[in-house]
Amino acid sequence: MKIAEKMDEEYYLAADKFFAANRPVGLTFDDISLSTRYSEFLPSETKLVTRLSDQVELQVPIISADMDTVTEGRMAIEMALMGGLGLIHYNLSKDQQLKEVEKVKYHVHGLIQEPIKVKPNEKIGDVIEMIERRNFSFRTFPVVDDDDKLVGMLEGRVVQARYKDTLVSDAMKGRDQLIAIKEKELKDDPIKVADQFFNEHIGINKLLVVNEKDQLRGLFTLTDIGRIINEEQSFIRPARDADFRLLCGAAISTDRNADGSLNKEAIISHVGSLVDRGLDVVAVSTAHGFSKGVGEAVRLVRGEFPDLTIIAGNVTSAEGVAFLADAGVNAVKVGQGPGSICTTRIVAGVGIPQMTALYVASKAAEAKGVKILADGGISKSGDIVKALTLADAVICGGILAGCREAPGRIIEINGKSYKQYRGMGSLEAMADGSAARYGHKQQDVNRKATAEGVEALKEVSGPVQKVVLNLIGGLRSGLGYLGADDLTSLKARARYIRVSPAGQQESKTHDVIEVKSEGKR
Ligand code: XMP
Repeated sequence: MKIAEKMDEEYYLAADKFFAANRPVGLTFDDISLSTRYSEFLPSETKLVTRLSDQVELQVPIISADMDTVTEGRMAIEMALMGGLGLIHYNLSKDQQLKEVEKVKYHVHGLIQEPIKVKPNEKIGDVIEMIERRNFSFRTFPVVDDDDKLVGMLEGRVVQARYKDTLVSDAMKGRDQLIAIKEKELKDDPIKVADQFFNEHIGINKLLVVNEKDQLRGLFTLTDIGRIINEEQSFIRPARDADFRLLCGAAISTDRNADGSLNKEAIISHVGSLVDRGLDVVAVSTAHGFSKGVGEAVRLVRGEFPDLTIIAGNVTSAEGVAFLADAGVNAVKVGQGPGSICTTRIVAGVGIPQMTALYVASKAAEAKGVKILADGGISKSGDIVKALTLADAVICGGILAGCREAPGRIIEINGKSYKQYRGMGSLEAMADGSAARYGHKQQDVNRKATAEGVEALKEVSGPVQKVVLNLIGGLRSGLGYLGADDLTSLKARARYIRVSPAGQQESKTHDVIEVKSEGKR
C-alpha cells in the first residue's frame, strides 16, 4: 500500500474501527470530525433522497420533531414542501390532531387561486408602482379584461422603467400565444396535472387556469410545484405520497386504561382515523422505547395496519433497536438526552452521547433491516452530516422552533423577538398531555412527576424554507467534501477523527469579531 493511503487509513478510521477504538467513551457530534476525501461531485450534484420504508421516501432527510412548540399542520406543510417530513405532536385533542393532519394532506400547494392580475389599459409604470408598493417578489402577471377574461400575460422582462409609458396591451403576450388549462381538467388532482404539464412544456414556468368562459380561475407557478430555490437552480422536490399529496406524520400516545393496560380500542380507533385522512407515518414517541408498553403498542398498530410506516423510540442501545424492529417498526428514533431542552441525563442520570448511540444502534438496524433516525442535539448543519454517516434521517426540534411556521406566539424582549420552545417532558407540556411519554400518569403530573425538560425561548429565525435551505446547503457541502454523491455513499465514505478540546475551539470561529450580513438569502 502506498504511504499516503496508509497514513489516511491509520489516522482517519472507518466507523467500526473508530468507535471500537474509542470504547468505552461515549462521543457526540462535537467530539468528532470527518476527514475529507477525493471528490468528483459538486455539492449541487448530490442527492439527498432517503427512505423510511417501502412506502415513504423523503427528498431531504430532515424531519421536524413531534413537539407542541415545533410541529402542527403549518410546519408539516412547509417541511413536506421542502422535501422532508413533519411529525404532528399529540398534545392536542384527537379531533384537533386529525384536523392538523387534514391541513397537510389536503393542502393544494402551487395553485394560486387569487393571482394578482393587471388590466390591458394600465401602463407599465402603474404595474411597477404596484410591485413596489406591495413589495411583490415576482414581475409576471396575467392580464384580464373587465369581465375577468384572460386576454394576455405581461412578462417580467418587459416590466421595466424604460417602458413605463407603454400600455400593458402593447407589451403583453396575447391570448393566442398562451397555454391555459380548463379548471375541470384539473379534476381531483391539480398538482399532478400541473406537474405533468411542466414536465411536458420545458421552459414554461406558469400555467394559467380558466373556466368555460375563459375567465381566469388560478395560476400555477413551477417554482411552487417543485421549488427552484438556490443559485445553482437545484431542484427541491416536495415529499409526496403516491397520490401526489404532501407527506405527513403524526405521533400517538400509548393510551392506557385505569388498570394500566393498553387502551387498545382507543389507539386503533385514532390511528384508523389518521390513516383515513391519509396519514403516511405514525410515531410512537416515548422517552423509553425499549419498554413493554411501547413494544405492545407497536405490535398492536402493526397488526391492524400492515402497510403503515411506523416509527418508534427512543432508544440508545442495539437491543432496544432489535426489540422495536421485532415488534414491527420501520424506523427507530435514537436519542436519549441529547435534545437542546432535555434534562433526562441530569435528572435520571441516563443516556448516551449521540454519535456513539447512533453507531451502536446502526449495527442492530442493519442486521434487522430497519432505519434509524437521529433524534435530538442537532444544532448546526455539520451535525446533520455527521449524524447521517450512521442514520437515515435526522429529527430536529430546537433548530426549527424559532421558525414562523412553528406553533406559538412571538414574544418581544428588549426589542428582540422570541418563540416559546419547551421539552415535551417539561411540567407545562406534560400537564398539556405528554405525561405518558415520560412514563407518568396524566393526573400525577403536578404531584409526582419530575420534569425531564425545560421551558425555553428561541430567537425567531424566519421561515422554515430559509432555515431548511441553509441546512440542506451545509449537508450538500458535507457530501461534496467526502466525495459522496448520495447518502448511501456518505455512510460508506465516512472516516472519523476524535477532536480534542483545543480542536473543538479551533473548529469554531476564533480571534475575530463576527460581522453579520444579510447575504443573498
Ligand atoms: P433538539 O436538540 O432538536 O431535540 O431540540 C429535540 C428532541 O428532544 C427530545 N425531547 C426531549 N427529551 N426531555 C428530553 O429528555 C424533554 O422534555 C424533551 N422534549 C423533547 C425529542 O426526542 C425531540 O425530538
